[in-house]
Amino acid sequence: MAIESLYILKTYWMIGDDLQKLHDEFSENTISNFYMPFGLAPNFLINDELYTIPMAVEESSVVAAASKAAKFWLTRGGFKTTVLSTTKLGHVHFMFEGDFEQLKNAFEQKIKNQLIEDTNDITKNMRSRNGGILNLELINKTSDLDNYYQIKGSFETVDSMGANFINSCLEQFAKTLKNEIELDNNFTQEDKNSLQIVMCILSNYTPDCIVRAEVSCPVEQLADGNVSAEEFVEKFSRAVRIAEIEPYRATTHNKGIMNGIDSVVIATGNDFRAVEACAHTYATKDGSYSSLTHCEVKDGIFRFWIDLPTALGTIGGLTALHPLVKLALAILGKPSAKELMGFVAVAGLAQNFAALSSLVTTGIQKGHMKMHLMNILNQHGTLFTNKDIERLAHVFRLKPSQFIEKYLRIDEDNDYVLQQVPCPFLDTDNYCLVYEDRPKACREYPHTDRKKFYQINDLTLKNTLICPATYEVVEQMQQELKI
Ligand code: MEV
Repeated sequence: MAIESLYILKTYWMIGDDLQKLHDEFSENTISNFYMPFGLAPNFLINDELYTIPMAVEESSVVAAASKAAKFWLTRGGFKTTVLSTTKLGHVHFMFEGDFEQLKNAFEQKIKNQLIEDTNDITKNMRSRNGGILNLELINKTSDLDNYYQIKGSFETVDSMGANFINSCLEQFAKTLKNEIELDNNFTQEDKNSLQIVMCILSNYTPDCIVRAEVSCPVEQLADGNVSAEEFVEKFSRAVRIAEIEPYRATTHNKGIMNGIDSVVIATGNDFRAVEACAHTYATKDGSYSSLTHCEVKDGIFRFWIDLPTALGTIGGLTALHPLVKLALAILGKPSAKELMGFVAVAGLAQNFAALSSLVTTGIQKGHMKMHLMNILNQHGTLFTNKDIERLAHVFRLKPSQFIEKYLRIDEDNDYVLQQVPCPFLDTDNYCLVYEDRPKACREYPHTDRKKFYQINDLTLKNTLICPATYEVVEQMQQELKI
């Protein structure tokens, strides 16, 4: 492996062998760690308690949007959450060529009890925590696929996500089913031979493990800057309605919701792929892909809510191992799985409220570009003239040649640029440490007041992607020129 690659990998290793070993063992063939920003969204009033929500997300604006929505609802009653139910599901998928009625009788009279009995050892601990197997059903799917049946298990897994528990139960169900059919003399040998277990696996679609998060307030409290409360509600409701009826918009609308949801799910060590898969299946429950959020205005009260089916855990798995996950759960006050379902749904709802509020008023780019700015600036170097070098060398009490050696390199256009980005002259708050003596290019940036501005059109266009001010200037020029 090239020395530079090794250097990069090593840069991301944990300090301390034990911590690195812990991370190595989360997965296989680990060679380094892949970091994500871990941020906090404060001011969430949820069920009358104040929370700060930890979020792990690499996309800029997500934490800011959640925080903005939290602050907005802080003075309007906050968020309310209700767990509607917590049932999780799993299936033994099997093929059987015998008579359905006979199978059904055997299932109801004998097999079902035996399934419970044979899993007693597996379910013991869970039962002591008020969980376990809730129900078992034989499902006939032969109208969809010849000879295809399921044992559908419903489970309560309390504070654990429950994947191992459910899968272990299901695998035992399959063994018991095979055994019971084999021992039952009412079935012919041909029937018995036809029984084939296809697979035993939990379902990530948990429509009965579902939480509702909502906000509501009198319409008149929704005035937003230049937009009146009535106009805001009309525009906002229309945006939600469009996401309800138009899958193209619903996909982006729900993606924004998942920005909030996934961030909390990841920070708290849960399986975001499972949460994603479940949410998107639920979004199609009425026949076509639709919005996960809804809103209404009744008797002058605006109400905005999300029903989110999601299976989460606050014990077991990463929650017991990952130091940052433990910290995230501590920040949330060591929640139960039910409480965590609420936090996750609130983050999704807050995200969607912030996104729609921007989209129907100022547009998303304004805020978005501002948030992207630091990222993009961090990637861009500055050009240094000889005068810049002399001035800055003086500031650092270096000779110009020493300044060049320490900070600069020559780029493809033969100009002096920084050896590294982000700029080494930024302090921890991203303020310029050499503002008074900054290079000419920084001083003149974004060059929109140049006399012959038209000579740098290409550069200006590039800068619209970096600088919100340039973006505004170009947009206003487009409006004036009607292009
Ligand atoms: C961007 O990550 C998410 C949004 O596109 C969501 C939306 O359009 O509602 C802003």
